[in-house]
Amino acid sequence: MRHTRIIVTHYGGPDALRVVEEECPEPKVGEVRVRVLAAGVSLPDIMAREGIHPETPRVPFTPGWDLVGVVDRLGAGVSGIEPGQIAAALPISGAYAEFVCLPQRELVPVPPGLDPAEAVSLGLNYITAHQMLHRSAKVRPGQRVLIHGAAGGVGTSLLQLGRLAGLEMYGTCSSRGASTVSDLGGTPIDYQHQDFVKEIHRLTREGVDVVFDHIGGTHLWRSRKALRPGGRVVGYGLISSIRGKGLASGRPGRRQRFRGAALFGLSIAGGWLLPGRKRVVPYSIQWLKRRKPELFRQDWIALLELLRQKKIKPLIAERFPLAEARRAQELLAKGGVIGKIVLVLDGSSPSTGLRA
Ligand SMILES: NC(=O)c1ccc[n+]([C@@H]2O[C@H](COP(=O)([O-])OP(=O)(O)OC[C@H]3O[C@@H](n4cnc5c(N)ncnc54)[C@H](OP(=O)(O)O)[C@@H]3O)[C@@H](O)[C@H]2O)c1
Repeated sequence: MRHTRIIVTHYGGPDALRVVEEECPEPKVGEVRVRVLAAGVSLPDIMAREGIHPETPRVPFTPGWDLVGVVDRLGAGVSGIEPGQIAAALPISGAYAEFVCLPQRELVPVPPGLDPAEAVSLGLNYITAHQMLHRSAKVRPGQRVLIHGAAGGVGTSLLQLGRLAGLEMYGTCSSRGASTVSDLGGTPIDYQHQDFVKEIHRLTREGVDVVFDHIGGTHLWRSRKALRPGGRVVGYGLISSIRGKGLASGRPGRRQRFRGAALFGLSIAGGWLLPGRKRVVPYSIQWLKRRKPELFRQDWIALLELLRQKKIKPLIAERFPLAEARRAQELLAKGGVIGKIVLVLDGSSPSTGLRA
């Protein structure tokens, strides 16, 4: 049987993506083959394509952090899981494919009846949001938080989970994201036309308890200024290294990443050394997944249960067929996307344009 997957042929722009058709992978001992129903499209996929993400595999590779699919075939030694069951996984790369083989321990059961596109959005975005709120920041009801990029994938997840946690929320976004941020319970701050530090102090007087910062670099210092004494910035990204000049322009992103990492280190040290007890702490989903796989699994199952109970509702910005992965990544890289872009696979996999 043949299947289709997307590969990154070289580090660079969207032209590095190709659709290839090849023999379906066979599950090895302890592995399960999954027929993918939905795969998330995320900025880390684009950063890996550019070769600037810490988790970048060697080329050629198949991108895709998270997937939801149907268990299709079991390798030798696998038990306790049946073909036909719906499962989710966060392989970090490899999800842009019709079939994927993964170790059984990587799979999390998905309750029946959920929309695969909504369920896959929980993978990277909601686990990140949940763990930053409850494991890094340890938020308490009534606390004030500032969420940067609040209309984006992780941002909207933070707003939904923050509302459930009883937080008072402020969110930076461009003007087109403002109504989304308000609808999800946050006070929008237009980062393109307002100084968020001044705005936070105007709105809250003493500052917020926590800032979630995916911009990185010198932006972390500004986020720190929005804190009240004793507050913390959770730093979890380096958008500053990819947006604008960073993308597909001779890979300056790599240099910027090292600069960004150095600034991150300085911010963490500054948090301990400077007065005001304002800390900067890093968060990485991949570190947590590797260091504490059981905790990771437990958080994912809890989030799936919240989705089943309709307590959260991931915003799906757009759905693309697998063969249009390039268009999906182009749209995300351009910015202005509200929520999550998802590749949806219905088994027919139209193969247009990009064939290698
Ligand atoms: N550390 C981890 O474990 C982890 C896990 C998941 C994601 N991440 C990181 O999180 C970041 C966000 O991912 P995502 O999937 O949520 O991306 P996304 O959906 O593209 O959202 C990013 C948002 O940031 C906004 N933005 C851009 N520049 C901004 C600025 N200067 N101030 C405030 N907001 C700004 C964008 O708004 P406009 O489009 O309107 O400009 C967009 O809404 C990425 O860097 C990713 O690598 C890290």
